[in-house]
Amino acid sequence: SEDALVIFTPSGKRGRFATGTPVLQAARSLGVDLDSVCGGRGICSKCQITPGYGEFPKHGVTVAEDALSEWNAVEDRYNRIRGLKEGRRLGCQAKIMGDVVIDVPPESQVHKQVIRKSATERDIAMDPATRSFYVEVQEPDMHIPTGDFERLARALKDQWQIDGVTADLSVLRKLQPVLRKGEWKATVVLHRGNHDEAHRILDIFPGFAEEPLCGLAVDLGSTTIAAHLCDLSTGKVLASSGLMNPQIRFGEDLMSRVSYAMMNPGGDVEMTRAVREAIDNLIRAVASEAGIDPERVYEMVIVFNPVMHHLFLGVDPVELGQAPFALATSDSLSLDARDLDLTAMNRNARVYVLPCIAGHVGADAAAVALSEEPDKSKDMVLVVDVGTNAEILLGNEHRVLACSSPTGPAFEGAQISSGQRAAPGAIERVEIDPVTKEPRFRVIGVDLWSDDPGFAGASRATGITGICGSGIIEAVAEMRMAGLVDPSGLIGGPEQTGTPRCEPHGRTHAYVLYDGTAEGGPKIAVTQGDIRAIQLAKSALYAGARLLMDEMGVDHVDRVVLAGAFGAHISPKHAMVLGMIPDVPLDRVFSAGNAAGTGARIALLNRAARDQIEETVHRIHKVETAIEPRFQEHFVNANAIPHAVDPFPELAK
Ligand code: FES
Repeated sequence: SEDALVIFTPSGKRGRFATGTPVLQAARSLGVDLDSVCGGRGICSKCQITPGYGEFPKHGVTVAEDALSEWNAVEDRYNRIRGLKEGRRLGCQAKIMGDVVIDVPPESQVHKQVIRKSATERDIAMDPATRSFYVEVQEPDMHIPTGDFERLARALKDQWQIDGVTADLSVLRKLQPVLRKGEWKATVVLHRGNHDEAHRILDIFPGFAEEPLCGLAVDLGSTTIAAHLCDLSTGKVLASSGLMNPQIRFGEDLMSRVSYAMMNPGGDVEMTRAVREAIDNLIRAVASEAGIDPERVYEMVIVFNPVMHHLFLGVDPVELGQAPFALATSDSLSLDARDLDLTAMNRNARVYVLPCIAGHVGADAAAVALSEEPDKSKDMVLVVDVGTNAEILLGNEHRVLACSSPTGPAFEGAQISSGQRAAPGAIERVEIDPVTKEPRFRVIGVDLWSDDPGFAGASRATGITGICGSGIIEAVAEMRMAGLVDPSGLIGGPEQTGTPRCEPHGRTHAYVLYDGTAEGGPKIAVTQGDIRAIQLAKSALYAGARLLMDEMGVDHVDRVVLAGAFGAHISPKHAMVLGMIPDVPLDRVFSAGNAAGTGARIALLNRAARDQIEETVHRIHKVETAIEPRFQEHFVNANAIPHAVDPFPELAK
């Protein structure tokens, strides 16, 4: 038979094939990304392609009407029952008969590009560890005494080149009725392990089963737990939800939870139970929001700081409370959900834990590294995940350093006199007129500035309740710019500042941002204590970044990425006025949103990303702030606003 020229778009891959070659086979041999779940049997319809006919001057071919074979019985039946879109063919059924240009639509690509990352604008390919595979299993025979499982394993090997599968007893119990019901055709839910880990059959269904497989990406923070439920074949986020971490009742911050475990025998067990129950509840909540049976959730990827890591795994965190801060393990983990007493998902569900970087820099920082890829950056990038503990990465493609810095919860609105979490009623943006010293502000839930007409009505409906992390940062920075606060952080009195808003408050002063007492509301002021708390937090953050810059031998960075839910709300200008971050052109400060959550989602949807981050983590060099004398020096100098010695030339612009 003759050879025909086949050109695939959008990849542009081309080759010559004997007439009669199925399109799917041609795609495979050229390495064109064309999906197939049923192995070319005309059942799954994942292999759809669109042939082009006529002139293709760009490719130098003319495609005749009969360049592909006519519809066969399988394609016909599929079209009758399910319908094929106009112009589409099943790639496994249509055969190449002449020169042809074949387009692979995005839905038919296995490696569909799904996640658009915020800071770097890069797409992530789909290749989840958990996938379904359709197989046709040989029927048993009196003369060939093999078990049903062995023949199923054989089918996976022959039809999908997947070798060495294992199955749990619960799957073995289902196996015989399922194979017989499906007349020896079955859909296997398979978890493909990384490294030398076995491939596990998590579930099996008769015939070709189409219900979606789901996975969960979880960012378990000390304050909140966030979860995204994803469709494992499309990568789509089906539902997202968040919960407060119930461990807060054992201690607001991490170290108080570690001491709770040290002081109370069994305290760590209590905290482990509480957080696992919360995750189970979260799974039920996202599944019900998405209208999915939680049984369809087969995998979870989770990231957290080292203390949460230990408490989630049920490892006593006591070693993390004292030098040298040894982790029980820093490697990634692949676990059974039921060994973690997680019962809401499928009973065979798997849990993947990203590796930790070091005793103070956890899997959440690894997830941030996976999402923001400082190790692939050409320029020197500083990535700051702002939370109760700031986790800081500095580097480029040659070298990446990491540290954590104890900022405390002030940036989240805690330890602030009128502080609250970012929720409706919280002041989130602040401006102070440098001449009149009068403030204007914006409140979450009221999309207006306080001097806009209509604000009063809208704010009465919401009620102003306090000030959140981004609000207090802007307030302090604006107070500095309006001359209400001196470089040492001291609030001036009414005579000095020329405004009665700077009223006496004990032996110091406080700036009144909002006084609702006449209507029975709160008085929201920035006190001297609030400024001190923000100074401590920002000095810790800045000192951590400076320590890494010293270690790297650089005196400036090219780019700053603010990660974390809170990072998304910080205004770069105010952050720099305060001296939270080193001097850098303002248009080189980016927000990455919840980068740890994005990293968890990448690891859920792409198996190779797990290898990538495990390898990267080994190359990240950890700098310990707690034992470094220069940290203390940087910390003291950073107490001034913006800084006692470091210049901030960009602020002068
Ligand atoms: Fe499944 Fe073509 S590969 S229908």
